[in-house]
Amino acid sequence: MESKDIIKGSTMKNVLIIGATSAIAHATARLFAQQGARLYLVGRNKEKLDINAADLKVFGAASVFIDIIDLDDTSTHKALIDRSIEKLSSVDVALIAHGTLADQTETQTSYEKTLAALTTNGLSYISLLTRLANYFEPRQEGTIAVISSVAGDRGRQSNYIYGTAKAAVSTFTQGLRNRLAKSDVNVLTIKPGFVDTPMTADFDKGALWASPDTVAGEIFKAINRGKDIIYTPFFWRYIMIIIKAIPEILFKKLKL
Ligand SMILES: NC(=O)c1ccc[n+]([C@@H]2O[C@H](COP(=O)([O-])OP(=O)(O)OC[C@H]3O[C@@H](n4cnc5c(N)ncnc54)[C@H](OP(=O)(O)O)[C@@H]3O)[C@@H](O)[C@H]2O)c1
Repeated sequence: MESKDIIKGSTMKNVLIIGATSAIAHATARLFAQQGARLYLVGRNKEKLDINAADLKVFGAASVFIDIIDLDDTSTHKALIDRSIEKLSSVDVALIAHGTLADQTETQTSYEKTLAALTTNGLSYISLLTRLANYFEPRQEGTIAVISSVAGDRGRQSNYIYGTAKAAVSTFTQGLRNRLAKSDVNVLTIKPGFVDTPMTADFDKGALWASPDTVAGEIFKAINRGKDIIYTPFFWRYIMIIIKAIPEILFKKLKL
Protein backbone atom coordinates (compact mmCIF):
# COMPACT_ATOMS: atom_id res chain seq x y z
CA MET A 1 0.00 0.00 0.00
CA GLU A 2 1.30 3.46 -0.88
CA SER A 3 2.44 5.56 2.07
CA LYS A 4 0.13 8.43 3.01
CA ASP A 5 2.09 10.85 5.16
CA ILE A 6 -0.72 12.50 7.05
CA ILE A 7 1.15 13.82 10.07
CA LYS A 8 3.73 15.92 8.30
CA GLY A 9 0.98 17.37 6.09
CA SER A 10 -0.29 20.70 7.33
CA THR A 11 -3.82 19.56 8.15
CA MET A 12 -3.27 16.53 10.37
CA LYS A 13 -1.99 17.89 13.64
CA ASN A 14 -4.88 17.94 16.05
CA VAL A 15 -4.86 14.74 18.03
CA LEU A 16 -7.44 13.46 20.50
CA ILE A 17 -6.03 10.81 22.84
CA ILE A 18 -8.60 8.92 24.88
CA GLY A 19 -6.99 7.00 27.73
CA ALA A 20 -4.01 9.34 27.61
CA THR A 21 -2.59 8.11 30.93
CA SER A 22 -1.90 4.68 29.39
CA ALA A 23 1.82 4.00 28.97
CA ILE A 24 1.34 3.06 25.30
CA ALA A 25 -0.82 6.13 24.62
CA HIS A 26 1.64 8.44 26.32
CA ALA A 27 4.61 7.07 24.38
CA THR A 28 2.57 7.59 21.17
CA ALA A 29 1.57 11.11 22.28
CA ARG A 30 5.27 11.99 22.62
CA LEU A 31 5.78 11.17 18.94
CA PHE A 32 2.91 13.46 17.96
CA ALA A 33 4.29 16.13 20.31
CA GLN A 34 7.66 15.96 18.55
CA GLN A 35 5.81 16.91 15.35
CA GLY A 36 4.41 19.99 17.09
CA ALA A 37 0.88 18.57 17.30
CA ARG A 38 -1.95 20.03 19.37
CA LEU A 39 -3.14 17.40 21.82
CA TYR A 40 -6.36 16.77 23.73
CA LEU A 41 -5.72 14.26 26.51
CA VAL A 42 -8.57 12.35 28.13
CA GLY A 43 -8.25 10.29 31.32
CA ARG A 44 -9.74 9.87 34.77
CA ASN A 45 -6.69 10.85 36.84
CA LYS A 46 -6.02 14.60 36.90
CA GLU A 47 -2.62 14.31 38.55
CA LYS A 48 -1.33 11.87 35.90
CA LEU A 49 -2.85 13.95 33.08
CA ASP A 50 -1.13 17.10 34.40
CA ILE A 51 2.22 15.29 34.52
CA ASN A 52 1.73 13.90 31.01
CA ALA A 53 0.65 17.29 29.65
CA ALA A 54 3.78 18.97 31.05
CA ASP A 55 5.96 16.21 29.59
CA LEU A 56 4.34 16.54 26.15
CA LYS A 57 4.95 20.28 26.11
CA VAL A 58 8.63 19.57 26.75
CA PHE A 59 8.52 17.13 23.82
CA GLY A 60 7.27 19.93 21.54
CA ALA A 61 3.45 19.86 21.58
CA ALA A 62 2.08 23.19 20.36
CA SER A 63 -0.66 23.02 22.98
CA VAL A 64 -2.09 20.41 25.32
CA PHE A 65 -5.60 20.31 26.78
CA ILE A 66 -6.76 17.84 29.41
CA ASP A 67 -10.22 16.46 30.10
CA ILE A 68 -10.93 14.41 33.22
CA ILE A 69 -13.55 11.76 32.74
CA ASP A 70 -14.34 8.19 33.75
CA LEU A 71 -14.77 6.55 30.37
CA ASP A 72 -17.11 3.89 31.77
CA ASP A 73 -19.82 6.56 31.84
CA THR A 74 -20.83 6.41 28.20
CA SER A 75 -23.49 9.11 28.69
CA THR A 76 -20.67 11.69 28.84
CA HIS A 77 -18.96 10.64 25.59
CA LYS A 78 -20.82 12.87 23.15
CA ALA A 79 -20.10 15.99 25.21
CA LEU A 80 -16.47 14.88 25.60
CA ILE A 81 -15.96 14.60 21.85
CA ASP A 82 -17.77 17.91 21.27
CA ARG A 83 -15.44 19.61 23.78
CA SER A 84 -12.34 18.19 22.12
CA ILE A 85 -13.49 19.41 18.69
CA GLU A 86 -14.24 22.84 20.10
CA LYS A 87 -10.83 23.16 21.81
CA LEU A 88 -8.79 21.79 18.91
CA SER A 89 -11.02 23.43 16.22
CA SER A 90 -10.98 20.05 14.46
CA VAL A 91 -9.72 16.55 15.19
CA ASP A 92 -7.41 14.93 12.64
CA VAL A 93 -6.45 11.81 14.57
CA ALA A 94 -8.32 10.12 17.43
CA LEU A 95 -6.56 7.37 19.38
CA ILE A 96 -8.52 5.23 21.85
CA ALA A 97 -6.27 3.46 24.33
CA HIS A 98 -7.77 3.04 27.82
CA GLY A 99 -8.27 -0.38 29.34
CA THR A 100 -8.17 -2.69 32.33
CA LEU A 101 -7.03 -6.27 32.72
CA ALA A 102 -9.21 -7.69 35.46
CA ASP A 103 -8.25 -10.96 37.10
CA GLN A 104 -9.84 -13.68 34.93
CA THR A 105 -10.46 -16.15 37.79
CA GLU A 106 -12.20 -13.51 39.88
CA THR A 107 -14.19 -12.13 36.96
CA GLN A 108 -15.42 -15.40 35.45
CA THR A 109 -17.62 -16.23 38.48
CA SER A 110 -19.31 -12.83 38.62
CA TYR A 111 -21.55 -11.44 35.89
CA GLU A 112 -21.26 -7.99 37.51
CA LYS A 113 -17.46 -8.06 37.21
CA THR A 114 -17.72 -9.44 33.70
CA LEU A 115 -20.05 -6.61 32.71
CA ALA A 116 -17.66 -4.06 34.24
CA ALA A 117 -14.75 -5.51 32.24
CA LEU A 118 -16.83 -5.55 29.04
CA THR A 119 -17.96 -1.97 29.67
CA THR A 120 -14.45 -0.57 30.08
CA ASN A 121 -12.78 -2.59 27.34
CA GLY A 122 -15.63 -3.03 24.88
CA LEU A 123 -18.82 -0.99 25.26
CA SER A 124 -17.06 2.28 26.06
CA TYR A 125 -15.02 1.84 22.85
CA ILE A 126 -18.17 1.21 20.83
CA SER A 127 -19.81 4.30 22.31
CA LEU A 128 -16.78 6.49 21.52
CA LEU A 129 -16.37 5.01 18.04
CA THR A 130 -20.02 5.58 17.17
CA ARG A 131 -19.68 9.25 18.06
CA LEU A 132 -16.29 9.67 16.42
CA ALA A 133 -17.58 8.06 13.21
CA ASN A 134 -20.44 10.55 13.12
CA TYR A 135 -17.87 13.34 13.31
CA PHE A 136 -15.36 11.98 10.81
CA GLU A 137 -17.73 10.61 8.15
CA PRO A 138 -19.08 13.94 6.83
CA ARG A 139 -15.64 15.52 7.27
CA GLN A 140 -14.24 13.02 4.75
CA GLU A 141 -10.74 12.84 6.22
CA GLY A 142 -8.91 11.78 9.36
CA THR A 143 -7.82 8.71 11.26
CA ILE A 144 -9.42 6.75 14.06
CA ALA A 145 -6.81 4.52 15.71
CA VAL A 146 -7.99 1.97 18.24
CA ILE A 147 -6.00 -0.28 20.57
CA SER A 148 -7.47 -3.77 20.54
CA SER A 149 -5.34 -6.83 21.39
CA VAL A 150 -4.13 -10.19 20.14
CA ALA A 151 -6.31 -11.48 23.01
CA GLY A 152 -9.35 -10.82 20.80
CA ASP A 153 -8.15 -13.22 18.09
CA ARG A 154 -8.93 -16.42 20.00
CA GLY A 155 -10.66 -17.07 23.31
CA ARG A 156 -8.40 -18.64 25.92
CA GLN A 157 -9.25 -19.79 29.44
CA SER A 158 -6.71 -17.41 30.99
CA ASN A 159 -8.29 -14.20 29.64
CA TYR A 160 -11.45 -14.81 27.61
CA ILE A 161 -13.45 -11.99 29.22
CA TYR A 162 -10.91 -9.32 28.30
CA GLY A 163 -10.52 -11.18 24.99
CA THR A 164 -14.27 -11.00 24.35
CA ALA A 165 -14.21 -7.22 24.72
CA LYS A 166 -11.17 -6.94 22.43
CA ALA A 167 -12.79 -9.26 19.85
CA ALA A 168 -15.79 -6.91 19.84
CA VAL A 169 -13.47 -3.93 19.35
CA SER A 170 -11.62 -5.67 16.50
CA THR A 171 -14.84 -6.65 14.71
CA PHE A 172 -16.46 -3.26 15.30
CA THR A 173 -13.44 -1.41 13.90
CA GLN A 174 -13.31 -3.79 10.95
CA GLY A 175 -16.91 -2.93 10.06
CA LEU A 176 -16.34 0.75 10.69
CA ARG A 177 -13.27 0.73 8.43
CA ASN A 178 -15.39 -0.87 5.71
CA ARG A 179 -18.07 1.83 6.18
CA LEU A 180 -15.72 4.83 6.39
CA ALA A 181 -13.36 3.84 3.56
CA LYS A 182 -15.59 5.57 1.02
CA SER A 183 -15.37 8.76 3.12
CA ASP A 184 -11.55 8.65 3.12
CA VAL A 185 -11.47 8.16 6.87
CA ASN A 186 -8.91 5.60 7.96
CA VAL A 187 -9.70 3.22 10.81
CA LEU A 188 -6.63 1.52 12.27
CA THR A 189 -7.00 -1.56 14.48
CA ILE A 190 -3.94 -2.03 16.69
CA LYS A 191 -3.26 -5.49 18.13
CA PRO A 192 -0.39 -5.44 20.61
CA GLY A 193 1.04 -8.63 22.08
CA PHE A 194 2.76 -8.46 25.48
CA VAL A 195 3.75 -4.90 26.43
CA ASP A 196 5.54 -3.95 29.64
CA THR A 197 3.17 -1.35 31.12
CA PRO A 198 1.41 -0.82 34.48
CA MET A 199 -1.39 -3.09 33.18
CA THR A 200 0.99 -6.05 33.07
CA ALA A 201 3.18 -5.08 36.04
CA ASP A 202 2.52 -8.39 37.84
CA PHE A 203 3.47 -10.63 34.91
CA ASP A 204 6.85 -12.35 34.52
CA LYS A 205 8.54 -10.83 31.49
CA GLY A 206 10.38 -12.71 28.73
CA ALA A 207 11.60 -12.55 25.15
CA LEU A 208 8.16 -11.83 23.66
CA TRP A 209 7.70 -8.64 25.68
CA ALA A 210 7.99 -5.19 24.11
CA SER A 211 8.37 -1.72 25.56
CA PRO A 212 5.67 0.95 25.20
CA ASP A 213 8.14 2.98 23.09
CA THR A 214 8.55 0.16 20.57
CA VAL A 215 4.80 -0.30 20.24
CA ALA A 216 4.19 3.46 20.09
CA GLY A 217 6.69 3.79 17.24
CA GLU A 218 4.81 1.17 15.25
CA ILE A 219 1.43 2.78 16.03
CA PHE A 220 2.70 6.19 14.93
CA LYS A 221 4.12 4.76 11.70
CA ALA A 222 0.87 2.89 10.97
CA ILE A 223 -1.19 6.07 11.45
CA ASN A 224 1.17 7.96 9.12
CA ARG A 225 0.90 5.24 6.49
CA GLY A 226 -2.86 4.82 6.63
CA LYS A 227 -2.64 1.15 7.66
CA ASP A 228 -5.73 -0.93 8.43
CA ILE A 229 -4.60 -3.50 11.01
CA ILE A 230 -1.27 -3.91 12.77
CA TYR A 231 0.08 -6.55 15.09
CA THR A 232 2.76 -5.00 17.30
CA PRO A 233 5.53 -6.02 17.55
CA PHE A 234 5.06 -7.43 14.03
CA PHE A 235 5.91 -11.03 14.99
CA TRP A 236 2.59 -11.36 16.80
CA ARG A 237 0.90 -11.65 13.39
CA TYR A 238 2.71 -14.99 12.90
CA ILE A 239 2.18 -16.17 16.47
CA MET A 240 -1.53 -15.56 16.09
CA ILE A 241 -1.68 -17.35 12.72
CA ILE A 242 -0.37 -20.43 14.55
CA ILE A 243 -2.63 -19.97 17.60
CA LYS A 244 -5.71 -19.56 15.38
CA ALA A 245 -4.78 -22.60 13.29
CA ILE A 246 -4.76 -25.05 16.23
CA PRO A 247 -7.86 -27.26 15.88
CA GLU A 248 -10.42 -26.75 18.67
CA ILE A 249 -10.14 -30.41 19.68
CA LEU A 250 -6.48 -29.83 20.60
CA PHE A 251 -6.88 -26.23 21.70
CA LYS A 252 -9.33 -27.12 24.48
CA LYS A 253 -6.73 -29.46 25.98
CA LEU A 254 -4.07 -26.75 26.17
CA LYS A 255 -3.63 -24.56 29.24
CA LEU A 256 -3.38 -21.21 27.49
N1 LIG B 1 0.09 -4.02 28.07
C1 LIG B 1 -0.21 -5.02 27.26
O1 LIG B 1 0.43 -6.09 27.27
C2 LIG B 1 -1.34 -4.84 26.26
C3 LIG B 1 -1.50 -5.86 25.29
C4 LIG B 1 -2.53 -5.73 24.36
C5 LIG B 1 -3.35 -4.63 24.41
N2 LIG B 1 -3.18 -3.68 25.38
C6 LIG B 1 -4.11 -2.55 25.39
O2 LIG B 1 -3.35 -1.36 25.28
C7 LIG B 1 -4.13 -0.29 25.80
C8 LIG B 1 -3.25 0.55 26.71
O3 LIG B 1 -2.89 -0.19 27.85
P1 LIG B 1 -1.45 -0.09 28.54
O4 LIG B 1 -0.80 -1.39 28.33
O5 LIG B 1 -0.79 1.16 28.09
O6 LIG B 1 -1.82 -0.07 30.06
P2 LIG B 1 -1.85 1.09 31.17
O7 LIG B 1 -0.61 1.90 31.12
O8 LIG B 1 -2.21 0.40 32.44
O9 LIG B 1 -3.03 2.01 30.68
C9 LIG B 1 -4.38 1.74 30.84
C10 LIG B 1 -5.03 3.08 31.07
O10 LIG B 1 -6.44 2.98 30.95
C11 LIG B 1 -6.98 3.90 31.88
N3 LIG B 1 -8.35 3.56 32.22
C12 LIG B 1 -8.82 2.35 32.58
N4 LIG B 1 -10.14 2.44 32.81
C13 LIG B 1 -10.50 3.73 32.59
C14 LIG B 1 -11.72 4.45 32.69
N5 LIG B 1 -12.86 3.84 33.06
N6 LIG B 1 -11.72 5.77 32.41
C15 LIG B 1 -10.58 6.40 32.05
N7 LIG B 1 -9.39 5.78 31.95
C16 LIG B 1 -9.35 4.46 32.22
C17 LIG B 1 -6.08 3.78 33.11
O11 LIG B 1 -6.25 4.93 33.88
P3 LIG B 1 -5.72 5.03 35.40
O12 LIG B 1 -4.24 5.24 35.29
O13 LIG B 1 -6.45 6.21 35.91
O14 LIG B 1 -6.10 3.73 36.05
C18 LIG B 1 -4.71 3.64 32.46
O15 LIG B 1 -4.10 4.90 32.29
C19 LIG B 1 -5.33 -0.92 26.49
O16 LIG B 1 -6.44 -0.86 25.63
C20 LIG B 1 -4.89 -2.37 26.66
O17 LIG B 1 -6.00 -3.23 26.74
C21 LIG B 1 -2.18 -3.76 26.30
